[in-house]
Amino acid sequence: MKGIALCGFMGCGKTTVASALSKKYDLTHIDTDKFIEEKSGMTISQMFSRYGEEHFRQKEFEAISTLCQKSDHVLALGGGAVMFSRNIEALKDSGYTLIFIDTDFDVIKKRLQSDITRPLLKSNDIEKLYQTRYPIYKSVCDISISATNETGEQIADIIYETILKKAI
Ligand code: S3P
Repeated sequence: MKGIALCGFMGCGKTTVASALSKKYDLTHIDTDKFIEEKSGMTISQMFSRYGEEHFRQKEFEAISTLCQKSDHVLALGGGAVMFSRNIEALKDSGYTLIFIDTDFDVIKKRLQSDITRPLLKSNDIEKLYQTRYPIYKSVCDISISATNETGEQIADIIYETILKKAI
């Protein structure tokens, strides 16, 4: 099976869907942010405040380049990963299918309301950032899945039925 990578805005449910996919269908799930945290020994938030966003983006690129060499994984990408063409190229060159988890902004906003772990929430107009990014998620993905009213498990089932079943 070729790998699949889940993209979408912070709080859209990428990690939940990836985790449901791995439990239900026995696939390996890797969260790129967790991978970066384990490798660097610090949280993403600490990395941003100590070394800045550019440093994080470099680590993110290195993580994606390493992880996409394995073909049977489900990758949950950070929300900004596909804003950088080098990451998209690395994933597509490795045969990954890019899936956009398309969750309504109102739902995302509620989920992020009391979040203190995501550095970009401190310094950005989150709705503006969402609006800027939305067309990019839409245009770079291979498949877009509406995820506002579905549970992580239901979305995992849709992904399995539409993509993975054919690829395994
Ligand atoms: C980011 C999203 C975060 C994390 C970092 C930057 C972004 O991941 O990679 O804080 O640019 O949207 P999640 O989408 O998992 O929150």
